[in-house]
Amino acid sequence: MMDWTDRHCRYLHRQISRRALLYTEMVTSAAVVHGDRDRLLGHDPAEHPVALQLGGSEPDELARAAAIGADFGYDEINLNVGCPSDRVQSGCFGAVLMERPALVADCAAAMIAVSPVEVTVKCRIGVDDQVPQEVLPAFLETVAAAGVKRFAIHARKAWLQGLSPKENREIPPLDYPLVLAMKRAFPHLHISVNGGITTLDQARDFLAEGLDGAMIGRAAYHEPWNVLGRVDEVIFGDQTGPDAFEVVERMRPYIARHLAAGGRLHQITRHMLGLFHGRAGARGWRRILSERGHGDDAGLPVLDAALAEVARLAA
Ligand SMILES: Cc1cc2nc3c(=O)[nH]c(=O)nc-3n(C[C@H](O)[C@H](O)[C@H](O)COP(=O)(O)O)c2cc1C
Repeated sequence: MMDWTDRHCRYLHRQISRRALLYTEMVTSAAVVHGDRDRLLGHDPAEHPVALQLGGSEPDELARAAAIGADFGYDEINLNVGCPSDRVQSGCFGAVLMERPALVADCAAAMIAVSPVEVTVKCRIGVDDQVPQEVLPAFLETVAAAGVKRFAIHARKAWLQGLSPKENREIPPLDYPLVLAMKRAFPHLHISVNGGITTLDQARDFLAEGLDGAMIGRAAYHEPWNVLGRVDEVIFGDQTGPDAFEVVERMRPYIARHLAAGGRLHQITRHMLGLFHGRAGARGWRRILSERGHGDDAGLPVLDAALAEVARLAA
């Protein structure tokens, strides 16, 4: 998610769950090919498994970007066919590509030809006045024929005219039954559902209904521990992850390294504001980090003060 799932956010989420697949922000293929790759693609080895999401609609450029992403060590390259923002539409990529499945197939084929890691697609169920029951199966069939085996489907349309990107994540109604129907129609494809999932129980229910994955965006960001804290145990049958206090301790050396390298505290702690969501002291935690985390000289004592607030009220 743009501006949200940067490397610091992903490092935090990886401290909470060892198994959940994490995604980068969308990076355009042009930026990867022509831009500052270390800044755009650099990540910590601890983040794995992590997928790089690319935006674009130019097969050759996407192929180059996919190869570069794989070289950087990403475990998966995901093509964005769901982002509705104006800027993205003007570049002819994101959700508008739901209208051009043959082009998406060309892009995917070019990426698959050069990428040693799996190429996947994130899409919507349709855009504007498309009929999702018709266009979505046709889209999946065309893109799967190019070799894509894994899709994440945001279970609502994008309305490209008249709605802001934020409204496009809230107003078009969710159609989960259609996504479930796609899994029945294409049982050989790995299909994850996305959109409106706020709890782990909800994600587990989708898996029980036959879907292969559940992708959680906003809820995982706003309440990282509540949503991801039991993923390893509940979804993967693995050991329970650390509690939220332990997560803070695990972040401490990472934050110290970041500060020592000239980084700002807030660049990391802004992703940690929701760590104690719903618990006593959560408000104080959030307030102290928000108010005192920005300063030039803000350091680990700010984290300690915020933590003391939670510990005091939890006691
Ligand atoms: C701030 C923000 C940035 C986003 N950026 C991206 C992005 O870069 N790529 C993408 O595929 N989806 C992006 N999304 C959409 C989410 O991935 C997700 O599809 C959408 O929010 C619905 O899922 P949710 O209800 O679990 O959040 C973004 C959402 C938000 C709130």
